[in-house]
Amino acid sequence: MAPEWRHRGLDLSKPSPARMYDYYLGGKDNFEVDRVAVEEMHRVIPELFQTARENRAFLGRAVRYIAGRGVRQFIDLGTGLPTQGNVHEIAQQVSGQARVVYVDHDPVVAAHGRALVAEDGSTTIIERDVRDPDEILGHPALKKLVDLREPVAVLFVAVLHFISDTEHAARIVQRFREVMAPGSYLVIAHGTRAAGTAAVSKMTETYDMATEKVSLRDPAEIVRFFDGFDLVEPGAVHLPWWHPEIEPHPEPHPTKWHFGGVARRPAD
Ligand SMILES: C[S@@+](CC[C@H](N)C(=O)[O-])C[C@H]1O[C@@H](n2cnc3c(N)ncnc32)[C@H](O)[C@@H]1O
Repeated sequence: MAPEWRHRGLDLSKPSPARMYDYYLGGKDNFEVDRVAVEEMHRVIPELFQTARENRAFLGRAVRYIAGRGVRQFIDLGTGLPTQGNVHEIAQQVSGQARVVYVDHDPVVAAHGRALVAEDGSTTIIERDVRDPDEILGHPALKKLVDLREPVAVLFVAVLHFISDTEHAARIVQRFREVMAPGSYLVIAHGTRAAGTAAVSKMTETYDMATEKVSLRDPAEIVRFFDGFDLVEPGAVHLPWWHPEIEPHPEPHPTKWHFGGVARRPAD
């Protein structure tokens, strides 16, 4: 039987960020159009695949850190295709009580995600755009798993750079921040321009042809997304420098492509 997304008029003529990222990480859920775009970019950016692994490893360390501090509910915005170290796997290694709501607007991600959703009802996937925070927050599937009166972790890992207007991205994050209970954690990872002009231009041009454009930002713009929350040690940094002692550890020769951190909502 053809996968569900085949029936929905999906445009397979353009690369998609979710499938490109899957290819960066060595996955199999990608198409020729994605592989060609990525390989062309890889010729100009030799560290491309490593930067994706660095981002993914940060995600794992952040989830382990937060679950280790007693948080049992997670909202993972811009989930990506299932791969190694999915949020629910890491959180549930720390506590069998952990519950995870995945959100992604890519129908291929949603179809694969549904196959991963645990039968015990501790995880779910919602096919929505992060540009609709209220739809996500009011979604019955989210309300079933997440009690917003309790601390929650909200993850924006490698997704905000697909929102081209910085003010719009800031409003989206703010909407989530304002409904998070004291003791909640906000996780942000974001692509930067640190790699230099040629690499950044190549990446921007490639994503211009994809289903989503990319907008790399400077660390000062990224830090603003944490407004009102307290950054945990070591603050906002290039990702390989964030708690390298937690697993999965960074690789030798880290890059500065991605920047971010983890912040906690203080008591009112
Ligand atoms: C680079 S992947 C990151 C996956 C995962 N968060 C990680 O860091 O390992 C970006 C994901 O964000 C999703 N995405 C991009 N723009 C989005 C939007 N406006 N709403 C929901 N998901 C979005 C893409 O479909 C893709 O799956």
